[in-house]
Amino acid sequence: MSEERTVTVLVAVQSPEDEAAVVTVLAAQPRTTVSRRCAELAELLAAAEAGAGTAAVVSGDLPGLDRDAVARLRGAGLRVVVVEDPATPAARLAGLGCDVVVAGGDAENLVAAVRGDGSANDDGRAAGVAPAAVPDDGTRPGTLVAVWGPAGSPGRTTTAIELAAALAGVGATMSRRSGLLRRPRPALPTHGASTVVLADADTYASSVTSRLGLLDDAPGLAAAARAAGQGLLDVRTLAGHAPVVLPGVRVLTGITRASRWPELPASSLDVVFQRCRELAAWTVVDCGPVLEADELLMYDTRAPQRNGATLSALQAADVVVVVGSADPVGLQRLVRGLEDLRDAAVPVPAARVVVVNRVRVSAVGRRAEAQVRDALARYGGVGDAHLVPDDPAGLDAALLAGRVLAECAPGSPARAAFEGLATRVRELVPATV
Ligand SMILES: Nc1ncnc2c1ncn2[C@@H]1O[C@H](COP(=O)(O)OP(=O)(O)OP(=O)(O)O)[C@@H](O)[C@H]1O
Ligand SMILES: [Mg+2]
Repeated sequence: MSEERTVTVLVAVQSPEDEAAVVTVLAAQPRTTVSRRCAELAELLAAAEAGAGTAAVVSGDLPGLDRDAVARLRGAGLRVVVVEDPATPAARLAGLGCDVVVAGGDAENLVAAVRGDGSANDDGRAAGVAPAAVPDDGTRPGTLVAVWGPAGSPGRTTTAIELAAALAGVGATMSRRSGLLRRPRPALPTHGASTVVLADADTYASSVTSRLGLLDDAPGLAAAARAAGQGLLDVRTLAGHAPVVLPGVRVLTGITRASRWPELPASSLDVVFQRCRELAAWTVVDCGPVLEADELLMYDTRAPQRNGATLSALQAADVVVVVGSADPVGLQRLVRGLEDLRDAAVPVPAARVVVVNRVRVSAVGRRAEAQVRDALARYGGVGDAHLVPDDPAGLDAALLAGRVLAECAPGSPARAAFEGLATRVRELVPATV
């Protein structure tokens, strides 16, 4: 016979009458103690992080209650029970990632919820992320590709943009874009192509916006993250933040200044990426270069993580494309980067494709391709790297025009290599069931 646990409860309920009712119900239960009655969220978080409780009962209307707050409570080891209030839709509360939502006044379920069954998620971070629903057209939820690479501008953004265009089948037959974000206009993918969301999650140096010649306006990814943090992100809302900028390609633009990185917390992006899978067949995420979850900051569970956006994408990914540049420094960083990825602060179970970009004789020597393959096989254990040639004419033309290669340099050798990468990525994804 198992011995029953004692539950210590932190209560933060906005209305004094409701708070009194909750405390009365809980205090009458055996092996249940109300250890703190908190007047506001900050007090609740402080008590939770001080280890003052094993469960939290929070009213849905508590000011500031969002996904991040719930994730912090769960990260501190608490079971989080949210009590519905008349003003807040139940769907929003369910989207906050708590363990249980109970109706106000439902004493029986409140007690059961607080005692729980100990089945809370281990990491307390991805909690409450509803699995991606099957999209309207009956296809399976989309696939997420994280494009990552070490520091030194190896070509992560170029790879992410060109891969997104290739997966969407952006071809030479498409018409020129008009107006873009100034006058977003839905466009259909070309025949046989898929829909793609391109998300800029680089919290150090986002550049998708300018690379695609878009207005440096409100960052779409931060807006989607904000909605997710409030439990309000559905597919329609996500689509509103992700305008179509190329046939079949929607973009979630990145933060306009590096200092805005706290607007991209992992607890919210976990949800954004899940909704992306419902919106599009493919989601391609341009990640930042740094993988550390700062050890010192980790002890302060209140501190947001600078690299949370990148770690969220890597953890969620079905395929990780690792980009390195083809020169002695870039290759060395790539080999170390692959090790860093193996030791990342979050599990990264996805299949990997290693891309070596800007392959050129001038930086590697004669037989550049063979040299690169040799070096990677010998030092990185990578036998099947995907090589992209140096193509300054094509990429500079794209940069200047704010367009993808398919639009301004369709015959470029780099474009052919990125098309080949798209084929490889498609092959890695299990066939549609
Ligand atoms: N295959 C290529 N041939 C020629 N130029 C390239 C190639 N790939 C990328 N470039 C150029 O290299 C520069 C850096 O590329 P990119 O911005 O994609 O790198 P990044 O890894 O995203 O850098 P950042 O650190 O800024 O995020 C850009 O000017 C781009 O046009
Ligand atoms: Mg970049």
